[in-house]
Amino acid sequence: MQSQDTDFALKNFIVLEGIDGSGTSTQMRFIEAAFKEKGLAHMVTAEPTGRPEGQLIRKILQGELDADPGTVAHLFASDRHQHLYGKAGIVEALESGKLVVCDRYVLSSLAYQGSTCGRDLPEYLNARFPAPGLTIFFKIDPEHSLQRLSSRSKLEIYEKMHMQKLVDIAYETTIAQKRSRGWKIETVNAEKPIDQVRQEVFTIIEAYTGFTIA
Ligand code: TYD
Repeated sequence: MQSQDTDFALKNFIVLEGIDGSGTSTQMRFIEAAFKEKGLAHMVTAEPTGRPEGQLIRKILQGELDADPGTVAHLFASDRHQHLYGKAGIVEALESGKLVVCDRYVLSSLAYQGSTCGRDLPEYLNARFPAPGLTIFFKIDPEHSLQRLSSRSKLEIYEKMHMQKLVDIAYETTIAQKRSRGWKIETVNAEKPIDQVRQEVFTIIEAYTGFTIA
């Protein structure tokens, strides 16, 4: 029987997390290419999604729409619910035997919305979502990650030093808390060259799934 101190986890659901510019999207592309090459049934996905809920969030992140931080926390939770349980969503893919890799999930809401509207609301809104089977956290100094984003023509509302430093601290607290509830969270040093990070990420995924992908 499930202990009340341990959160229920979705097997074969892998999540990448980190502050902006930590390189999760780049590593996601490597994982997708490796899964394809090895012929592994999979779905790669991201939050905010491209679904209507996610599109609304994007407009807010790009500064086109104004929204109270609490509203944003609700929107991320709605997008997540639909992403998990909606048609062609995460649960459906897992039930059909696919490995699912998602760029950002619950920890992003706890770290980002926790830094904008306080921890209580995002904790409440995200309390019932299942844990991923594996989370890989990309650890990088906010000064370095923001340098990586400096070539972008337009930055989103959270892509500022002050916010990234808050989110970095919030991730640390959140990760410690979730580990104590049984979440499997591995940290990689995202300061390293892309190829070394890729190797580290592949080793973690291989150990978790039992498939060779390198
Ligand atoms: P992301 O797609 O990783 O950034 P981009 O594609 O612009 O490089 O994420 C968009 C932003 O959304 C990022 O700043 C983190 C934020 N976010 C939250 O604040 N809460 C959440 O729950 C999620 C999933 C993302």
